[in-house]
Amino acid sequence: MKYIKFNKGKSVDLNIIFVFEDQLPLIKRALAKGRAYDDIEFAIKNHIVSGKVGTTNMFSSKTYDNDYFLVGVGNKDNFNIQIYERCITQALKQINTFKTTSICVDLTNIKIKNIDIIRSSIIEIEKTQYTYKKPGTFRLKECALKVSSSVDNKLFNKTTNESLAISAGINKARMLGDTPSNVCNPTFLAREAKKLEKLNKDIKVEILDEKQMRTLKMGSLLSVSQGSRQPAKLVIIKYMPIKKKQPIVLVGKGITFDTGGISLKPASNMDEMKYDMSGAGSVIGTMHACAEMKLKNNIIGILACAENMPGGLATRPGDVVTSMSGITIEILNTDAEGRLVLCDALTFCKKYKPKYILDMATLTGACLVGLGKYPSGLFSNSDDLSMKIKKSADRTGDRVWELPLYPDYFDELKTNFADIQNIGGRYGGAITAAAFLANFTKDQKWAHLDIAGTAWETGQEKGSTGRPVKLLADFVMTNK
Ligand code: BES
Ligand code: MN
Ligand code: ZN
Repeated sequence: MKYIKFNKGKSVDLNIIFVFEDQLPLIKRALAKGRAYDDIEFAIKNHIVSGKVGTTNMFSSKTYDNDYFLVGVGNKDNFNIQIYERCITQALKQINTFKTTSICVDLTNIKIKNIDIIRSSIIEIEKTQYTYKKPGTFRLKECALKVSSSVDNKLFNKTTNESLAISAGINKARMLGDTPSNVCNPTFLAREAKKLEKLNKDIKVEILDEKQMRTLKMGSLLSVSQGSRQPAKLVIIKYMPIKKKQPIVLVGKGITFDTGGISLKPASNMDEMKYDMSGAGSVIGTMHACAEMKLKNNIIGILACAENMPGGLATRPGDVVTSMSGITIEILNTDAEGRLVLCDALTFCKKYKPKYILDMATLTGACLVGLGKYPSGLFSNSDDLSMKIKKSADRTGDRVWELPLYPDYFDELKTNFADIQNIGGRYGGAITAAAFLANFTKDQKWAHLDIAGTAWETGQEKGSTGRPVKLLADFVMTNK
């Protein structure tokens, strides 16, 4: 899609205008006097246009200079970037069914920092262009953005390029998540990561195989793949364009299918476990965005890839393994495998002397139970880091909610047979999982995002969401 800054001489098929419930007269400023103006004014007076969140009204007539599509964004005081995202997505879904090839999105009404609203608009438009099944079926070709006069061409172009890079990263993550596990296995993920080298000469990808991991004593990670015919891979994506600068390390859970292993999952909805590599997918997506926008920051992505299967060689409940850190783990439930692959990746990444470590994982059903599908669960051993992540969440609408890591949760991981066990008690499963990981990052500024509820959508809209690429991209862009 082509994005341009709107100017007066430009004509488009359709104008999108956002209307607030409590500011209906404001839209008049966006329209010139004429038939459209009169019709819309009539519609407002007669409450046909309400401004309520997600409502849309089309004003289409041969006699107007343009067609107008009014999108309600609700009450001014409740408005934020996440509501905006919801409304524009709703509108775009309808517009994608029209014959429209060019649109103008009028952002002059919206009181959110210019670059944030431009970025959000472009990302949502690009997201509607993604489909797993039938790529290339969209008519929309050009989008003009009507922005405040304080945005000059240079800033507009820079923001547009960054937004396109982030969108490409999001859609890449979605594509990886949606790809079924008979194709998307650890070797496939490693190859996808390797492809990033073509994007930017500063990207270097290393792939460690099981033999190399055995030499590194990654007994925990390897215990997960031992029941599968698919070998595990540890992938290191280095993007280090700046000399002598500590990198931000992003670690992703890359379980390409999670059957639960010997602690087998029930049959219903097990297909969803193809998304269990979404953490790794979000890391690839974020690295893609960094490479494409030529970000001036050092980032390393680590993917802990394995398939969790039952089999003659699979881990048995009660088995004890030794992780790379030397910490021994009693595996009481082979379905708590995410933490087993992540802990070795977290130990491994310390060699890069990270400024911050962030790990992303579809780690627990408990997170989904506790927080639902709207925010990702956030856990951290550093208030400074968690605050920075929350700021990125606020700016992007890619929401997070922090949960506590009290010492009590760590006590639940005690066992007579090893240093720790891989599951806690009956309650607070998202937190005991995070506490497990915290044992491996004690001397680091670390945060964990549980994306079990946010990385994909179920039901009619079934599919990968690409979250939290938007959040991560903002984080690496703003913490240089
Ligand atoms: N991949 C799952 C978590 C998950 C479940 C994500 C449902 C999304 C939807 C993870 O590996 C898992 O199985 N976790 C267990 C942990 C338990 C055995 C302590 C869970 O959440 O049930
Ligand atoms: Mn599992
Ligand atoms: Zn899993």
